[in-house]
Amino acid sequence: MFYDLARRFMFTRDAEWAHEFALNNLRRFAHTPLSAAWSQSVPNKPVNFLGLEFKNPVGLAAGLDKNAECIDAFSQMGFGFVEVGTVTPRPQAGNDKPRIFRLPESNAIINRMGFNNKGVDNLVNNVKAAKYDGILGINIGKNKDTPNEQGKDDYIHCMRKVFEHASYITVNISSPNTPGLRDLQYGEALDDLLQSLKNEQLDLVAKHNKQVPMLVKIAPDLDEVQIGQVSESLINNKIDGVIATNTTLERAMVQGQQYANEAGGLSGQPVRQRSTHVVSELKRLTEGKLPIIGVGGIDDADSAKEKFAAGADLVQVYTGFIYKGPELVKTILNSL
Ligand SMILES: Cc1cc2nc3c(=O)[nH]c(=O)nc-3n(C[C@H](O)[C@H](O)[C@H](O)COP(=O)(O)O)c2cc1C
Repeated sequence: MFYDLARRFMFTRDAEWAHEFALNNLRRFAHTPLSAAWSQSVPNKPVNFLGLEFKNPVGLAAGLDKNAECIDAFSQMGFGFVEVGTVTPRPQAGNDKPRIFRLPESNAIINRMGFNNKGVDNLVNNVKAAKYDGILGINIGKNKDTPNEQGKDDYIHCMRKVFEHASYITVNISSPNTPGLRDLQYGEALDDLLQSLKNEQLDLVAKHNKQVPMLVKIAPDLDEVQIGQVSESLINNKIDGVIATNTTLERAMVQGQQYANEAGGLSGQPVRQRSTHVVSELKRLTEGKLPIIGVGGIDDADSAKEKFAAGADLVQVYTGFIYKGPELVKTILNSL
């Protein structure tokens, strides 16, 4: 009810304005009686994944709370885990506005934010200030002006900063909005990156005496051969898990709709099938050995169940949550 009203208001405004407006209010009012507007109790459905105890298998996907400013509010909505970021070593403004577009006919979004964020030090301070004690994923990336050859250093910088504060770390190499980033998903560049990050992870585990699993987030726009190569590289480098998928560059499913030809990544219903396909291919190719978080186009119970059936251990939502609000978390959990 509350979300229906809030959505009706926010959908009359520019998408990024609405996003900022919502985050500001979630942050300001999380610890006041006004938080009753979004707080809800949800069924308890604990899951053990990667050696971590999740309250339930429905998480918030990366990109909504890039600076970790609203973790407590998202926890109040019943999410079983929250992933913040993508964060980069240095703050950066991202691409020029406008850079988020709604495609309501398809419950979809196109975005080309470009990792706008306030930098990793700011994120760590926000995490420290939060009261949340559930599972927190921290999603890391590289600054736009860091050449790909030095991209590794950006990931390592972020890993070192967030390690102590994260339940798991996601290495994002699949945003379509940082030029060249997706090249890190292929061949030697991928192996080289994963090997270095694995070594760093092992050093940090020893240093902090704490296990922090590392997952890699991949794009839906990989062909069969590429999915095979990525799976092999993830297994060979002993990566703890994979998040499939990020947004797509495909536009076939939204042809003719307003904003369909805007540059950026398309998310929501149009990416659902492709993401599910990537999840099932990963499951098949790794013979179930690689833990998988499924994300892409989940906006009701059926689309969530589809990801689990394809092999996902946990799911995340972003665009479906924008269209349906906190109720979506409950709807999915009630159906499991
Ligand atoms: C506006 C917007 C910003 C996003 N930013 C990020 C990001 O910073 N890092 C990331 O890994 N994924 C980001 N994503 C991708 C989502 O986390 C998710 O993988 C993708 O949208 C597919 O899920 P969905 O269909 O439920 O939205 C973003 C998505 C949207 C719509």
